[in-house]
Amino acid sequence: MTALIEPFLPMGLQQKEAIADELAQCGFGYMKFTPPSGLIESVMKGWREFLTLPMEERIPWGCGDPEDLDVGYIPRKPGESCPGCNGCKTPSSYQGMPHDSKDFFHFKSHLTSLLDYKHVNYDGQMEWLDALNELHEFCKSAFHEVLLELNSYFPELCLSERFNSHVAWPRHALRLLSYHGTMKPGQPLGKAHVDRNFGTIQVYETHPALVLNLPGGKVNYVPRKNEALMFTGDKAAQVTDKRLPAINHVITVPNDFVPAAVEETRQSIVFFGHVYPEVA
Ligand SMILES: [Fe+2]
Repeated sequence: MTALIEPFLPMGLQQKEAIADELAQCGFGYMKFTPPSGLIESVMKGWREFLTLPMEERIPWGCGDPEDLDVGYIPRKPGESCPGCNGCKTPSSYQGMPHDSKDFFHFKSHLTSLLDYKHVNYDGQMEWLDALNELHEFCKSAFHEVLLELNSYFPELCLSERFNSHVAWPRHALRLLSYHGTMKPGQPLGKAHVDRNFGTIQVYETHPALVLNLPGGKVNYVPRKNEALMFTGDKAAQVTDKRLPAINHVITVPNDFVPAAVEETRQSIVFFGHVYPEVA
């Protein structure tokens, strides 16, 4: 039995203030979220076009190193570890993400510097990169606003300052996802998990399929106009000594999903915000 998310909205409080109360009480809540008109569409258009490039052109966009693996393009790992994968084209030399069935793209502030360093020509992608950068900046600003509110709950932790630290800044990531495999009603599209970061903003998804596994039961995420869901992760639980929870969640195709005649792919955008140093 699942229920719709109905966040706590105390009387007399503006929505802008209520998000901190919701996070402090249950680890998730809706925040005001109004990115510039057309921006998400531009990001998604570029992502879909990027995925049509030959794999040998996409692979150089993986810019991770042993210090930070998650930068740029991160395709799925080839072979039988890709559930639902039909004819994976990823070169066998690329390790990718094991036991997964989706492609990632992590936009971070320094992505183009890393692409320059690797001599990757991105002239044809400037419009998309500009849109990614603008949405990344918007999400950082919105996340920072929430942390400013949370400072009143945890004044000793200086969360907003730590979000802006020179260690945290390169880690804030806008993640684009593209799932593979046929969507069937009730089908899980990933494993249940908690995110490692402080908090996650659910920015956009083509098919609502996020389910939060809360102590009181499962709740299905329902998108709201001009709002975005934010929930706390492992780092939030760690730095607050579990006063904030790490929200377990999973992506599952709703039971009432009706497949279209043409196979559909679920794509989404999330933002991961970090606080560093890890221990105040
Ligand atoms: Fe997650």
